Amino acid sequence: MDPRFIRAALAVLLAAAAVQAPAQDFPNRAITMVMPYAPGGPGDTITRVFAGAMQKHLGQQIVVDNTAGASGSIGTAKVARAKPDGYTLLMIHVSHATNLAMYKSLPYHPVDDFEPIGRATSGPMVIVTRNEFPARNLGEFVAYVKANAAKVSLAHAGVGSASHLCGLMMMNALNVKFNEIPYKGTGPALTDLMGGQVDILCDQTSGTVPSVKSGKIKAYASAGKTRLPQLPEVPAISEAGVEGFDINISFGLYAPKGTPKSVLDPLTSALQKSVGDVEVRQRLEAMGISAVSAELARPEALRSHLKNEIDTLGGLLVKAGVKAN
Ligand code: MLT
Repeated sequence: MDPRFIRAALAVLLAAAAVQAPAQDFPNRAITMVMPYAPGGPGDTITRVFAGAMQKHLGQQIVVDNTAGASGSIGTAKVARAKPDGYTLLMIHVSHATNLAMYKSLPYHPVDDFEPIGRATSGPMVIVTRNEFPARNLGEFVAYVKANAAKVSLAHAGVGSASHLCGLMMMNALNVKFNEIPYKGTGPALTDLMGGQVDILCDQTSGTVPSVKSGKIKAYASAGKTRLPQLPEVPAISEAGVEGFDINISFGLYAPKGTPKSVLDPLTSALQKSVGDVEVRQRLEAMGISAVSAELARPEALRSHLKNEIDTLGGLLVKAGVKAN
Protein backbone atom coordinates (compact mmCIF):
# COMPACT_ATOMS: atom_id res chain seq x y z
CA MET A 1 0.00 0.00 0.00
CA ASP A 2 1.35 3.49 -0.91
CA PRO A 3 3.20 4.80 2.19
CA ARG A 4 1.87 8.31 1.45
CA PHE A 5 -1.70 6.96 1.80
CA ILE A 6 -0.82 5.29 5.12
CA ARG A 7 0.73 8.56 6.39
CA ALA A 8 -2.37 10.57 5.34
CA ALA A 9 -4.79 8.08 6.95
CA LEU A 10 -2.73 8.11 10.16
CA ALA A 11 -2.77 11.93 10.20
CA VAL A 12 -6.61 11.94 9.93
CA LEU A 13 -6.95 9.38 12.72
CA LEU A 14 -4.63 11.33 15.00
CA ALA A 15 -6.49 14.58 14.29
CA ALA A 16 -9.83 12.94 15.11
CA ALA A 17 -8.37 11.47 18.29
CA ALA A 18 -6.98 14.91 19.21
CA VAL A 19 -10.50 16.43 18.98
CA GLN A 20 -12.06 13.58 20.93
CA ALA A 21 -9.44 13.40 23.70
CA PRO A 22 -10.14 16.87 25.32
CA ALA A 23 -13.91 16.17 25.16
CA GLN A 24 -13.37 12.84 26.91
CA ASP A 25 -11.61 14.37 29.93
CA PHE A 26 -13.76 17.52 30.07
CA PRO A 27 -13.25 19.55 32.12
CA ASN A 28 -9.52 19.58 32.71
CA ARG A 29 -9.16 23.30 33.51
CA ALA A 30 -11.13 26.26 34.86
CA ILE A 31 -14.40 27.22 33.15
CA THR A 32 -15.64 30.79 32.58
CA MET A 33 -19.35 31.48 33.17
CA VAL A 34 -20.31 34.81 31.59
CA MET A 35 -23.08 36.77 33.35
CA PRO A 36 -23.70 39.75 31.02
CA TYR A 37 -25.03 42.09 33.73
CA ALA A 38 -23.23 44.16 36.38
CA PRO A 39 -21.95 42.63 39.65
CA GLY A 40 -24.29 42.69 42.65
CA GLY A 41 -27.53 42.18 40.70
CA PRO A 42 -29.85 39.15 40.60
CA GLY A 43 -28.10 37.69 37.56
CA ASP A 44 -24.73 37.92 39.28
CA THR A 45 -26.11 36.42 42.50
CA ILE A 46 -27.73 33.47 40.71
CA THR A 47 -24.67 32.84 38.52
CA ARG A 48 -22.40 32.71 41.57
CA VAL A 49 -24.70 30.20 43.29
CA PHE A 50 -24.56 27.88 40.26
CA ALA A 51 -20.86 28.42 39.60
CA GLY A 52 -20.19 27.31 43.18
CA ALA A 53 -22.48 24.29 42.96
CA MET A 54 -21.49 23.10 39.47
CA GLN A 55 -17.75 23.32 40.14
CA LYS A 56 -18.26 20.75 42.92
CA HIS A 57 -19.78 18.31 40.44
CA LEU A 58 -17.34 19.08 37.59
CA GLY A 59 -14.21 19.13 39.75
CA GLN A 60 -12.88 22.32 38.14
CA GLN A 61 -13.10 25.97 39.20
CA ILE A 62 -15.84 28.08 37.55
CA VAL A 63 -14.98 31.77 37.24
CA VAL A 64 -17.80 34.30 36.84
CA ASP A 65 -17.18 37.00 34.20
CA ASN A 66 -19.49 40.07 34.39
CA THR A 67 -19.05 41.47 30.87
CA ALA A 68 -22.03 43.87 31.03
CA GLY A 69 -23.74 46.40 28.77
CA ALA A 70 -26.27 46.78 25.93
CA SER A 71 -28.93 44.75 27.80
CA GLY A 72 -26.58 41.78 28.13
CA SER A 73 -25.78 41.53 24.43
CA ILE A 74 -22.07 42.43 24.82
CA GLY A 75 -21.31 39.51 27.17
CA THR A 76 -23.57 37.21 25.17
CA ALA A 77 -21.66 38.02 21.95
CA LYS A 78 -18.43 37.10 23.75
CA VAL A 79 -19.77 33.58 24.37
CA ALA A 80 -21.15 33.28 20.81
CA ARG A 81 -17.60 33.97 19.51
CA ALA A 82 -15.91 31.66 22.05
CA LYS A 83 -14.33 28.29 21.16
CA PRO A 84 -17.09 25.59 21.38
CA ASP A 85 -15.14 23.49 23.89
CA GLY A 86 -17.29 23.95 27.02
CA TYR A 87 -14.87 26.30 28.78
CA THR A 88 -16.92 29.46 28.10
CA LEU A 89 -20.59 29.40 29.14
CA LEU A 90 -23.43 31.91 29.33
CA MET A 91 -25.98 32.33 32.15
CA ILE A 92 -28.81 34.59 31.01
CA HIS A 93 -32.51 35.28 31.28
CA VAL A 94 -35.29 36.86 29.25
CA SER A 95 -33.02 39.38 27.52
CA HIS A 96 -31.54 36.51 25.49
CA ALA A 97 -34.97 36.43 23.82
CA THR A 98 -35.87 40.11 23.77
CA ASN A 99 -32.53 41.32 22.36
CA LEU A 100 -33.47 39.67 19.07
CA ALA A 101 -36.41 42.09 18.77
CA MET A 102 -34.52 45.03 20.29
CA TYR A 103 -31.30 45.18 18.25
CA LYS A 104 -31.30 45.44 14.44
CA SER A 105 -27.64 44.46 14.26
CA LEU A 106 -27.27 41.81 16.99
CA PRO A 107 -23.89 40.08 16.34
CA TYR A 108 -25.40 36.64 17.08
CA HIS A 109 -28.69 34.72 16.93
CA PRO A 110 -29.96 33.57 20.36
CA VAL A 111 -31.11 30.19 19.01
CA ASP A 112 -28.75 29.42 16.09
CA ASP A 113 -25.48 30.41 17.78
CA PHE A 114 -25.91 28.62 21.10
CA GLU A 115 -26.34 25.14 22.57
CA PRO A 116 -28.82 25.14 25.46
CA ILE A 117 -27.59 23.25 28.55
CA GLY A 118 -30.67 23.69 30.73
CA ARG A 119 -32.89 25.99 32.77
CA ALA A 120 -31.69 26.94 36.25
CA THR A 121 -34.13 29.19 38.12
CA SER A 122 -37.51 30.89 38.11
CA GLY A 123 -38.50 33.90 40.21
CA PRO A 124 -41.00 36.74 40.69
CA MET A 125 -40.45 40.47 40.61
CA VAL A 126 -41.34 43.29 43.02
CA ILE A 127 -42.00 47.02 42.64
CA VAL A 128 -39.82 49.07 44.99
CA THR A 129 -39.06 52.76 45.49
CA ARG A 130 -36.64 55.02 47.30
CA ASN A 131 -37.61 55.42 50.98
CA GLU A 132 -38.87 59.00 50.69
CA PHE A 133 -41.29 58.19 47.86
CA PRO A 134 -44.51 60.09 48.72
CA ALA A 135 -46.96 57.17 49.04
CA ARG A 136 -47.91 55.13 52.15
CA ASN A 137 -49.50 52.17 50.36
CA LEU A 138 -50.23 50.64 46.94
CA GLY A 139 -53.39 52.69 46.41
CA GLU A 140 -51.51 55.97 47.04
CA PHE A 141 -48.64 54.74 44.86
CA VAL A 142 -50.97 54.18 41.88
CA ALA A 143 -52.71 57.53 42.44
CA TYR A 144 -49.40 59.42 42.78
CA VAL A 145 -47.71 57.96 39.68
CA LYS A 146 -50.86 58.52 37.59
CA ALA A 147 -50.93 62.18 38.64
CA ASN A 148 -47.17 62.84 38.43
CA ALA A 149 -45.81 60.37 35.84
CA ALA A 150 -43.80 62.97 33.92
CA LYS A 151 -41.64 63.72 36.96
CA VAL A 152 -41.22 60.11 38.12
CA SER A 153 -37.99 58.26 37.21
CA LEU A 154 -37.89 54.51 36.53
CA ALA A 155 -34.57 52.68 36.75
CA HIS A 156 -33.91 49.56 34.66
CA ALA A 157 -31.09 47.43 33.26
CA GLY A 158 -31.53 48.39 29.59
CA VAL A 159 -34.22 47.80 26.98
CA GLY A 160 -35.46 44.23 26.94
CA SER A 161 -34.05 43.48 30.40
CA ALA A 162 -36.29 41.96 33.09
CA SER A 163 -36.53 45.25 34.98
CA HIS A 164 -37.35 47.09 31.73
CA LEU A 165 -40.04 44.57 30.77
CA CYS A 166 -41.57 44.84 34.23
CA GLY A 167 -41.40 48.65 34.05
CA LEU A 168 -43.02 48.57 30.62
CA MET A 169 -45.83 46.29 31.83
CA MET A 170 -46.39 48.64 34.79
CA MET A 171 -46.52 51.73 32.53
CA ASN A 172 -48.90 49.94 30.12
CA ALA A 173 -51.14 48.69 32.94
CA LEU A 174 -51.30 52.16 34.58
CA ASN A 175 -51.29 53.99 31.26
CA VAL A 176 -48.41 56.30 32.28
CA LYS A 177 -44.94 57.13 30.90
CA PHE A 178 -42.04 57.51 33.35
CA ASN A 179 -38.54 58.91 32.69
CA GLU A 180 -36.46 55.80 32.09
CA ILE A 181 -32.92 55.63 33.53
CA PRO A 182 -30.92 52.68 32.09
CA TYR A 183 -28.11 50.94 34.04
CA LYS A 184 -25.74 48.02 33.26
CA GLY A 185 -27.65 45.93 35.78
CA THR A 186 -30.05 46.30 38.67
CA GLY A 187 -27.20 45.98 41.17
CA PRO A 188 -26.07 49.61 40.51
CA ALA A 189 -29.72 50.69 40.02
CA LEU A 190 -30.60 49.40 43.51
CA THR A 191 -27.66 51.33 44.98
CA ASP A 192 -28.99 54.56 43.44
CA LEU A 193 -32.51 53.76 44.63
CA MET A 194 -31.20 53.37 48.21
CA GLY A 195 -29.42 56.69 47.72
CA GLY A 196 -32.64 58.39 46.57
CA GLN A 197 -31.26 59.22 43.08
CA VAL A 198 -34.06 57.39 41.29
CA ASP A 199 -37.72 56.83 42.25
CA ILE A 200 -38.89 53.38 41.12
CA LEU A 201 -37.35 50.00 40.22
CA CYS A 202 -39.11 46.78 39.36
CA ASP A 203 -36.60 44.05 40.09
CA GLN A 204 -36.17 40.39 40.88
CA THR A 205 -36.18 39.48 44.56
CA SER A 206 -32.56 38.52 45.31
CA GLY A 207 -31.46 42.12 45.92
CA THR A 208 -34.74 43.80 46.75
CA VAL A 209 -36.13 41.49 49.47
CA PRO A 210 -33.11 41.92 51.83
CA SER A 211 -33.10 45.71 51.15
CA VAL A 212 -36.82 46.02 51.94
CA LYS A 213 -36.40 43.92 55.10
CA SER A 214 -33.49 46.12 56.24
CA GLY A 215 -35.61 49.25 55.65
CA LYS A 216 -33.33 50.71 52.96
CA ILE A 217 -36.13 50.85 50.33
CA LYS A 218 -39.93 50.53 50.21
CA ALA A 219 -41.92 47.79 48.46
CA TYR A 220 -45.43 48.51 47.11
CA ALA A 221 -46.39 45.35 45.27
CA SER A 222 -45.25 42.04 43.87
CA ALA A 223 -45.44 42.19 40.07
CA GLY A 224 -48.02 39.49 39.70
CA LYS A 225 -51.13 37.83 41.06
CA THR A 226 -49.69 36.41 44.30
CA ARG A 227 -47.84 37.87 47.29
CA LEU A 228 -44.21 36.92 47.94
CA PRO A 229 -43.79 34.52 50.90
CA GLN A 230 -40.73 36.60 51.92
CA LEU A 231 -42.84 39.84 52.01
CA PRO A 232 -46.32 38.68 53.13
CA GLU A 233 -47.37 42.21 54.10
CA VAL A 234 -46.77 43.52 50.54
CA PRO A 235 -49.82 43.15 48.27
CA ALA A 236 -49.81 41.75 44.75
CA ILE A 237 -50.33 44.43 42.05
CA SER A 238 -53.56 42.63 41.06
CA GLU A 239 -54.97 43.54 44.52
CA ALA A 240 -55.09 47.16 43.28
CA GLY A 241 -57.26 46.03 40.40
CA VAL A 242 -54.31 46.32 37.99
CA GLU A 243 -54.74 43.53 35.38
CA GLY A 244 -52.48 41.97 32.73
CA PHE A 245 -49.33 42.38 34.72
CA ASP A 246 -47.70 39.13 35.81
CA ILE A 247 -44.00 38.54 35.19
CA ASN A 248 -41.64 35.74 36.19
CA ILE A 249 -37.95 35.59 35.34
CA SER A 250 -36.03 32.41 34.46
CA PHE A 251 -32.29 31.98 34.04
CA GLY A 252 -30.76 29.36 31.76
CA LEU A 253 -27.29 28.13 30.86
CA TYR A 254 -25.88 28.02 27.31
CA ALA A 255 -22.68 27.02 25.47
CA PRO A 256 -21.44 28.21 22.05
CA LYS A 257 -22.88 26.50 18.97
CA GLY A 258 -20.89 23.39 18.02
CA THR A 259 -19.97 22.40 21.56
CA PRO A 260 -19.82 18.57 21.36
CA LYS A 261 -22.46 16.44 23.10
CA SER A 262 -19.70 14.70 25.07
CA VAL A 263 -19.06 18.12 26.67
CA LEU A 264 -22.69 19.27 26.94
CA ASP A 265 -23.77 16.09 28.73
CA PRO A 266 -21.52 16.51 31.80
CA LEU A 267 -22.52 20.20 31.94
CA THR A 268 -26.23 19.31 31.91
CA SER A 269 -25.65 16.60 34.49
CA ALA A 270 -23.81 19.05 36.77
CA LEU A 271 -26.62 21.58 36.36
CA GLN A 272 -29.24 18.93 37.17
CA LYS A 273 -27.35 17.92 40.33
CA SER A 274 -27.06 21.59 41.29
CA VAL A 275 -30.80 22.35 41.01
CA GLY A 276 -31.40 19.27 43.20
CA ASP A 277 -28.80 20.37 45.73
CA VAL A 278 -30.57 21.17 49.05
CA GLU A 279 -28.15 23.96 49.93
CA VAL A 280 -28.63 25.60 46.51
CA ARG A 281 -32.41 25.39 46.80
CA GLN A 282 -32.38 26.84 50.31
CA ARG A 283 -30.07 29.72 49.38
CA LEU A 284 -32.25 30.63 46.41
CA GLU A 285 -35.50 30.25 48.33
CA ALA A 286 -34.25 32.66 51.00
CA MET A 287 -33.97 35.21 48.18
CA GLY A 288 -37.45 34.41 46.84
CA ILE A 289 -36.16 32.42 43.83
CA SER A 290 -36.88 28.77 42.92
CA ALA A 291 -34.42 26.32 41.41
CA VAL A 292 -36.21 24.49 38.60
CA SER A 293 -36.80 20.73 38.64
CA ALA A 294 -34.16 18.40 37.16
CA GLU A 295 -36.70 17.79 34.41
CA LEU A 296 -36.41 21.44 33.33
CA ALA A 297 -32.63 21.59 33.74
CA ARG A 298 -32.29 20.00 30.30
CA PRO A 299 -31.50 21.36 26.78
CA GLU A 300 -34.97 20.65 25.35
CA ALA A 301 -36.72 22.50 28.18
CA LEU A 302 -34.53 25.58 27.73
CA ARG A 303 -34.87 25.49 23.95
CA SER A 304 -38.67 25.54 24.12
CA HIS A 305 -38.68 28.15 26.92
CA LEU A 306 -36.47 30.46 24.83
CA LYS A 307 -38.65 30.02 21.78
CA ASN A 308 -41.74 30.88 23.79
CA GLU A 309 -40.11 34.03 25.20
CA ILE A 310 -38.97 35.13 21.72
CA ASP A 311 -42.54 34.72 20.45
CA THR A 312 -44.31 36.39 23.39
CA LEU A 313 -42.06 39.01 25.02
CA GLY A 314 -40.27 40.02 21.84
CA GLY A 315 -43.72 40.73 20.43
CA LEU A 316 -44.71 42.81 23.46
CA LEU A 317 -41.72 45.11 23.00
CA VAL A 318 -42.21 45.52 19.26
CA LYS A 319 -45.90 46.35 19.86
CA ALA A 320 -44.81 48.95 22.42
CA GLY A 321 -42.57 50.42 19.70
CA VAL A 322 -39.46 49.92 21.82
CA LYS A 323 -36.17 49.69 19.89
CA ALA A 324 -32.55 49.69 21.10
CA ASN A 325 -31.06 50.83 17.80
C1 MLT B 1 -29.39 41.98 36.65
O1 MLT B 1 -28.83 40.91 36.88
O2 MLT B 1 -28.87 43.06 36.82
C2 MLT B 1 -30.83 41.91 36.16
O3 MLT B 1 -31.17 40.61 35.90
C3 MLT B 1 -31.01 42.80 35.00
C4 MLT B 1 -32.43 42.86 34.52
O4 MLT B 1 -33.23 43.61 35.10
O5 MLT B 1 -32.73 42.16 33.59
